Amino acid sequence: MPNFVTPITLKIFSTKNEITDYFNRKPVKVIGFVPTMGALHKGHLGLIELAKQQSTQVVCSIFVNPTQFNDPKDLEKYPRPITDDIRRLEEVNCDILFNPQVTEMYADNEKWHFDMGDLEYLLEGKFRPGHYQGVTQVVNKLFNIVKPDIAFFGQKDYQQFMVINKMVEVLKMPVKLVMCPIEREPDGLAMSSRNIHLTPYDREHSLILSKALNWVKENFDINKIDTLQQQAGQMISNEPGVELEYFEIADGKTLHHATPASETIVALVAARVGKTRLIDNVLIS
Ligand code: PAJ
Repeated sequence: MPNFVTPITLKIFSTKNEITDYFNRKPVKVIGFVPTMGALHKGHLGLIELAKQQSTQVVCSIFVNPTQFNDPKDLEKYPRPITDDIRRLEEVNCDILFNPQVTEMYADNEKWHFDMGDLEYLLEGKFRPGHYQGVTQVVNKLFNIVKPDIAFFGQKDYQQFMVINKMVEVLKMPVKLVMCPIEREPDGLAMSSRNIHLTPYDREHSLILSKALNWVKENFDINKIDTLQQQAGQMISNEPGVELEYFEIADGKTLHHATPASETIVALVAARVGKTRLIDNVLIS
């Protein structure tokens, strides 16, 4: 007899009340949660698959959060292929999609400030002022609506994970965070919803990011951090069509420049490739 798996019907909610009512009527042992901004690719789907393994029901949210965009043009051109996204969520047997409108999530002139210390100003924080205030604001709201037991985030946004981890600690939110590895294209480019904006020329030259990160990992020597960082940055700056924002070999816990005392080390990069801003990172130890 073939082994049939009963497909799950994806439930789609667009209001906070629908989610609250659903879980009030049907308490669930472990709620797994994967927050996204949509344009789902294998990186997102990997998070959902891991969430499926560790939870009783999985909620994925798709919400392009305006407060985390520091560039209005970036917000405007952010891809929103909701029909394809729903199909992909059905294919991976996701249980619930939360897909609210902006007015459901925000009242007019809402204020938010979370003190995340240095993390707000380092690396991404420096190049995207206010970005992590917007991220913490929306993730805080989403956690309060979905009330997950476990939430899954990608290593792709390493600093974002650290910021959310800090918020969960400081606000004592009852949720466990899981970091999932980076999904890459076969040639090494980290998957991202923004990759669709790369022209064929950009796409070819974007590979320098993962190449430089791997080169640092392969040649890593704790006593040569400064030289490695400088040379990797130079490799990227020399690449046609690529404008480096930062290349940093950092302490995995503080994101300050790594030292021989660092227990974990991560190399992080951000660059503009054509008109598209890309980020990537690799864990070194
Ligand atoms: P988004 O960019 O859609 O990413 C959603 C989640 O997918 C994040 O946790 C991100 O780190 C993860 N992800 C993206 N690309 C990945 C890849 N190639 N491999 C593994 N994981 C990957 O991050 C956001 O949305 C938003 O800031 C959000 C947290 C939803 C708040 O608005």
